[in-house]
Amino acid sequence: MDKLVIKGKTPLKGEVTINGAKNAAVAILPAALLIDGITTIENLPNISDVKLLCEIIENLGAKITWISNNAITIDSRNISCTQAPIELTRKFRASYYLIGALLGRCGEVQVGMPGGCKLGARPIDQHIKGFEALGAKVEVGQGIIKATREKLIGTNIYMDIVSVGATINIMLASVLAEGTTIIDNPAKEPHIVDVANFLNALGADVRGAGTDVIKINGVQKLEGNITYSVVPDQIEAGTFMLAAVASHGDIIIRNCITKHLECITAKILEIGAHAEELDGDTIHVWCNKRPTKANIKTLPYPGFPTDLQPQMGVVLSMANGTSIINESIWESRFQYTDELNKMGAKITSQGKTAIFEGVSTLYGAPVSATDLRAGAALIIAGICADGITEIHNLEHIDRGYENIEEKFRKLGANITRVKEDDPNNHLVDLPE
Ligand code: EPZ
Repeated sequence: MDKLVIKGKTPLKGEVTINGAKNAAVAILPAALLIDGITTIENLPNISDVKLLCEIIENLGAKITWISNNAITIDSRNISCTQAPIELTRKFRASYYLIGALLGRCGEVQVGMPGGCKLGARPIDQHIKGFEALGAKVEVGQGIIKATREKLIGTNIYMDIVSVGATINIMLASVLAEGTTIIDNPAKEPHIVDVANFLNALGADVRGAGTDVIKINGVQKLEGNITYSVVPDQIEAGTFMLAAVASHGDIIIRNCITKHLECITAKILEIGAHAEELDGDTIHVWCNKRPTKANIKTLPYPGFPTDLQPQMGVVLSMANGTSIINESIWESRFQYTDELNKMGAKITSQGKTAIFEGVSTLYGAPVSATDLRAGAALIIAGICADGITEIHNLEHIDRGYENIEEKFRKLGANITRVKEDDPNNHLVDLPE
């Protein structure tokens, strides 16, 4: 097991390049199983969730070849199995996309109940409702989901809740269905549009992704031999934007889509920091005074993303005044506030609301990443804090950020990854 050791109070300065989006990549890889051919995926983040998904897909009979650190080919001509390894699929959330893809391609599929970050209840009723509306039979029991179909027939599906996963899964299942599927009240996140673009590049007919209604005209067959580049990660870009603000730094962020960042930019300007678009894929963020308080409510895109709520929480924990965050997506996404309080923050949380009484300084302390974005938030806190911070449970962070400590180090952070049990690496002797 590794831990991160950070010597703090560093204003971040320099340039960082954003990787492809985790939450698009983990849907695009299963989507590649819809074809009987070969696809090349570029700008793929090299993170543990992607590697795990590659392992699962290979278990199903596909052949994956890494052609560079961030590009693979997927040869899905020989899908020989529709039962995904139960233990592997339970390890993360996105394994549920195998259901939509394999229902479409093979007509039957079995996966373990998807795991993922512990953010409260994570039901999949909207996914099941969609599959059943298309004509599939879905059985859930003993930690396993099994879905089968004679044929899938397009229909109108109204989503009771705006769900990223269910929207993508219904798109995956319906591209090869007979007739037209309409998804009303879908999610509109950039990764929804990216998955639709990928499907259309394979020959699907998906219209309206990113709007309030998605229309999918089923086609008989999808074709391979395409090369597709995953959309830049909105959440990774937002993480570095908020790190620049929290540390009173000055960062240029490259390979992002600035349009996707407007919900974050608006809040950065509101609290007195600065964000300026340099061109469509570069943004400059800086902060030269203590930010002021703000209230935040997380919402589906284009609202403020829940996946940046903990990182924003770090900024507000050191803001001038008292801020309130209302988390409207997940039941339990304030676990990181207990860790921040160990560093001197003054945050009280109850249910889906947390009150941040801004303090002028955080102090280094040993803390644990409780989930992926909580881990990113603690890194930002460690970079801002006076003294040394140790962050444990890095497996959460490695699920979704490629080379995160290397990127922060290039921005000037004093951050090192060490073995947990190495007696020479314990809260002392960090290089200046
Ligand atoms: C995706 O999760 C992301 N994960 C999450 O990112 C992200 O927080 C979330 O979308 C919201 O943006 C992936 O893309 C792999 P949802 P997902 O279905 O699809 C309820 C990260 O840090 N709901 O949009 O699982 C659900 O309980 C992760 O990268 C139902 O009630 O989220 C939640 O309250 C964490 N029934 C809300 O909808 C359902 O069938 C939104 O969930 C499905 C969801």
